Amino acid sequence: MQEDRTPIIIGSDHAAYQLKEKLRAYLTETCGIQVDDAGTRSEASVDYPDFGIRVAEAVSKGKFERGILICGTGIGMSMVANKFPHVRAALCNDLFSAVMSKRHNNANILVMGGRVIGDILATEILNAWLETPFDGGRHQLRLEKFDSMGCG
Ligand code: RB5
Repeated sequence: MQEDRTPIIIGSDHAAYQLKEKLRAYLTETCGIQVDDAGTRSEASVDYPDFGIRVAEAVSKGKFERGILICGTGIGMSMVANKFPHVRAALCNDLFSAVMSKRHNNANILVMGGRVIGDILATEILNAWLETPFDGGRHQLRLEKFDSMGCG
């Protein structure tokens, strides 16, 4: 069970719509975390940047502290999200990456590939990402070296 109930914004394209629905239900019903669903709303074909931008913009502007993005591979969503200032989106299709994305990178958006991993692994990755704290220290200094890039 997650102790941190900080709200989360989630988004996907059609390729990961089913996984998004499962993770949204898991977060709200099992973890008791408030989730803002940025879409998509069906398996009809859409363009992943439209949903990546919604989530990344909300995190970049501080409307949400953390977000989740999923598409077929996770690659497109991570490319889009990392264009935004203050966004640290981490593509994690394995548990070690999920843990390290928090410990060393304090990732504020978790990205996964719905066509790469199964629902159970995706849920385990999500749990690891939610539960793992940031190590801080030298890693904070490293994040500060690029955090404000693109802010003018
Ligand atoms: C959609 O077909 C697919 O291109 C998208 O989900 C994602 O994998 C892009 O990176």
